[in-house]
Amino acid sequence: MRININHLKEMKQKQEKIVMLTAYDYSTARIVNECSIPLILVGDSLGMVVLGYDSTIPVTMDDMLHHTKAVSRGASQSLIVGDMPFMSYHINTEQAMHNASRLIQEGGAQAVKIEGGRNICTTIESIVNAGIPVMGHIGLTPQYMHQLGGFRAQGKSLPVAINLYNDALALEQAGAFAIVIEAVPERLATYISQKLGIPTIGIGAGDGCDGQVQVINDILGSFSDFVPKHAKQYANLSKKISQAVKTYRDEVTGKLFPSREHGIAMSDEVFSEFLKAVE
Ligand code: KIV
Repeated sequence: MRININHLKEMKQKQEKIVMLTAYDYSTARIVNECSIPLILVGDSLGMVVLGYDSTIPVTMDDMLHHTKAVSRGASQSLIVGDMPFMSYHINTEQAMHNASRLIQEGGAQAVKIEGGRNICTTIESIVNAGIPVMGHIGLTPQYMHQLGGFRAQGKSLPVAINLYNDALALEQAGAFAIVIEAVPERLATYISQKLGIPTIGIGAGDGCDGQVQVINDILGSFSDFVPKHAKQYANLSKKISQAVKTYRDEVTGKLFPSREHGIAMSDEVFSEFLKAVE
């Protein structure tokens, strides 16, 4: 049975940590799903780690739909959260609801994620009222990078800390089923987590959150442009992939690959008939 938002609430109540990982394609989603990861985020981080942009801002609804469809074909047990990309929920509530419904209906996600706090609560309320679970996202919200002055930690100063706290309370009130807290001091994220009835999922927000999310390319070491401070590399896939690619290159140029076992056999009889027919 697929994980749903009630399971996540129960996990918080039982103080079981919630694990979330991003995935952007079918094969990765299958692996993550088979590893019993309850939450898969098809994050707009795909703009950076898959599409090669220097931020998430260029990511479109079409991009998100394309990747959400692929992930939903690969994951039958995890709850799939589709990220709402830049400006897909700000213009008006109708457009936000339309785009959220596309991620569910066409993309196959079971929930959507929206960056922002009190500024976006009315929209979240409408989407939730339409039956679409919404995950909030506060702290370092990359879609607001130009307003935040870049990818910077949030909540170190008193006014921003108070704002974040009030945003978190408002998101819960608006009906969000969980909130991602990104790049926020641990003690603030822990305090917010203790005050909310819904789970918090931290990234760069310490271990006091109810769960953790990471970009899969960061933990696998397959994105080599930079390693975020909050990421721990559990593998070095870039190195492994590079070794495999070089070995393949050397075997092709050295005439070692393909060998017989990788070829398709044709009987002597058929081949001699073939030669008779064509020569
Ligand atoms: O897009 C994404 O992957 C995210 C996570 C980093 C939370 O928003």
